[in-house]
Amino acid sequence: MNKTPAWPPFAEATVQDTSRLRYTRIAIVLHWLLAVGLMYQLTLGIWMDGVPKTPPGLRAEWFNWHKSVGLLLGLLILLRGVWRLTHARPGWPKALPCWQQQAAGISHALLYVCMFTMPLSGFLGSSFTQYPIKFFGTPLPRLWQAEPDLKNLLSSVHTGTSYVFIGLIVLHVMATLWHVLRRDGVFSRIWPVAQKAGAAAPETAA
Ligand code: HEM
Ligand code: HEM
Repeated sequence: MNKTPAWPPFAEATVQDTSRLRYTRIAIVLHWLLAVGLMYQLTLGIWMDGVPKTPPGLRAEWFNWHKSVGLLLGLLILLRGVWRLTHARPGWPKALPCWQQQAAGISHALLYVCMFTMPLSGFLGSSFTQYPIKFFGTPLPRLWQAEPDLKNLLSSVHTGTSYVFIGLIVLHVMATLWHVLRRDGVFSRIWPVAQKAGAAAPETAA
């Protein structure tokens, strides 16, 4: 008998809606908007490290762009987190073994941890420098004085988490490809185009 695991608790913060096979439309839109946005932001973050310091201002311009996009993504992540906590996740396809449900729950929870840590550590780290954070050109109010030690610590958190995040995303995409090949109905839960009426749909676990 296929049981829904009680752990991790985060993934079960909202009860499962076993009558539904797909994520809500808002959850789907937020997932794909953030998937594209976060992959762009991760690539940009690694690439901008190589931007030369001359001509003056060029490097700062890219860093400011990265900070603005990162803050925007942070707001979307906040919205996604609230949506996730207030809207039930669809029930798992009935044929999905318990260990796979548990593995998905743990990896999704870790993806959420990284999604929150990245903009938060970036914002806090940058606000402990002497330079104001500019949000698409508008300087944000200074919250604290410059603290080089705290800045360095938060930079390490930002950089370290980005590598863990990339590793998790690679695993997440590989797991998805595996589900696509098995045609077990997992991918269609979040793909924007719903399966045609009449197409064989997997049952949800009770
Ligand atoms: C930055 C990139 C990505 C992040 C951070 C991310 C994160 C997540 C999270 C947290 C969930 C769980 C949804 C929830 O319970 O609220 C999820 C679901 C899912 N994602 Fe992604 N995702 C990313 C990219 C992708 C890509 C590129 C694919 C496909 C190639 C994909 C395929 C899926 C699928 C199929 C599910 C549904 C799993 C289920 O049935 O619960 N994701 N993603
Ligand atoms: C979703 C959000 C974000 C992602 C995925 C992200 C990703 C990255 C990545 C991959 C790097 C390069 C790490 C390395 O290899 O050294 C980086 C560096 C950096 N990011 Fe972000 N970032 C995000 C948000 C932010 C925000 C909101 C800010 C500031 C307001 C910020 C400020 C910085 C700075 C200043 C660096 C240079 C290295 C450092 O001093 O920490 N980031 N980011």
